[in-house]
Amino acid sequence: MKHKGANYANYRNRLILLIIALISIAGLIITVQYAKKSDKIQRSLSFDWSIDSTENEEIYVIATARGEWQDGEKVGNQYEIELVNNSNHAIRNWNVTIVVEEGCTIDTSWAGFFSLGGDKLMYKPAEFNEFVPSGARKSFGLVMYSPNVCEMNEITLDYYESRALKSYPAFWIFLVLLSAAFVVFIFSEYVRIKMENYTKTHAAYKNLVSESLRTIANIIDTKDEYTKGHSVRVAIYSKMIAERMGMDEHDQERIYYIGLLHDIGKVGIPASILTKPGRLSDEEFEIIKRHPAMGASIMKDFSSIPGVVNGIKYHHERYDGKGYNEHLKGDEIPLEGRIICVADSYDAMSSKRCYRNSLSYDFILDELKRNAGTQFDPDILKHMVAIIEDGYAPVSDAEMEDYEI
Ligand SMILES: [Fe+2]
Repeated sequence: MKHKGANYANYRNRLILLIIALISIAGLIITVQYAKKSDKIQRSLSFDWSIDSTENEEIYVIATARGEWQDGEKVGNQYEIELVNNSNHAIRNWNVTIVVEEGCTIDTSWAGFFSLGGDKLMYKPAEFNEFVPSGARKSFGLVMYSPNVCEMNEITLDYYESRALKSYPAFWIFLVLLSAAFVVFIFSEYVRIKMENYTKTHAAYKNLVSESLRTIANIIDTKDEYTKGHSVRVAIYSKMIAERMGMDEHDQERIYYIGLLHDIGKVGIPASILTKPGRLSDEEFEIIKRHPAMGASIMKDFSSIPGVVNGIKYHHERYDGKGYNEHLKGDEIPLEGRIICVADSYDAMSSKRCYRNSLSYDFILDELKRNAGTQFDPDILKHMVAIIEDGYAPVSDAEMEDYEI
C-alpha cells in the first residue's frame, strides 16, 4: 500500500509539472504571437518644422536647410534630414511625408528614395536604412528647386514598432516558469531514482533480516520435532494480535521477530528433556524453566529489535503472578511478554506434542477463556479468541511456509 501511495504521489507531481510546462509553453507561444502582432501597430507622428518642438520626443525627424541659392528663375536648397530613435524599441518599415510648396522639383537625393506628388514630398528609406535600432539615427537628404522659397511645412513619420521579445514581462514570467518546471523535474527524477535504489536496498536488507531470524527459529524448533514450526506460528499469531491491538506496521514487525526468537533459550536445554514423551520430573521441569533467562542472556547484546529481551525473558510469566521466572503480574509483565504468552499457549494447545495429540477447537477456546485474567492478560486474550473464531488460527503448514511480512 505504501508503495502504491508513493507511486500515486509521483505520478501526481509529474502531472502537475507537465501542466505547468504546457501552460508555460502555451504562454510563450501566445507572447511571441502577441509580440509579432504588435509589430504591425502603425503610428503617425507629425512634426513642425522647428527643431524646438521635436527635441522632447522619443522618436522624431529633423530637417535642416543647408543653404539657399538662386539658379535663374528657381531657388535651390539642400536639406539634411535625420530620423532619431530615442525610444526603447527599434522601428522598421518607416517612411516620411513632408508637406512642401507647390511646384518644387527634386534635383538629387541620397540614402533613400524621394518622390513628389502635389505638395507631398514622400521618402522611403533604402534597404540599409529600413531598420532603426533603439538609440540610433538615420540620415538622408535631397536637393530641391522651387519657384520661390521651398519650405517644409509639416513632417509626418509612419513606422512600425519592433519590440524585442525580451521587453515583454510575460515572456520572462513564462520562461522562468518553464525553466523552474524543468529544474524541478530533473531534481525530482534524481530524488526518485535515488529513492528507488534506497527502497531496493532496504527491501534486500529486510529480506536478509527476516530470513536470518526465520532460520534461527528453524534451528530452535529443530531441537524438538514435535515443535516444528512452533516459533514461526507463535510469531504469526503474535503479529496478528499486535495488528488487532492497533499497533503500527513497524511494531507488528517487531513483535513478529520477537515471536520467532522467543524460545531461543531452548538451544541450551538438553534435547532429551525437551523431547521426553512422559511426565517431566521436578528437576527436569526446573531445567526447562531456565530457557527464558537463557534466551535473554543469549540476546542481551541484540539491540536491533527493541523489546526482544522482554519478550523472551517474560513469555512464561502469568498475569496473576504465578508464572516463571520473576513472578511478575499484570502490567508489570512487559507487553511483548504478555502477547507472546497468549500466542505461545494457543500454539502449544493447537499443535501435536510428543506427549499428546492436538486439542479440540472447543476445548482450546474454553481453556483460553477460562484462564483470562489468571494466566493471560484479558485485553490481549480477547484478540486471540477473535482470531481463532474468525478462522485465522490455526495456520496450516502451507500457510506458514508462504507467510511473508
Ligand atoms: Fe517458551
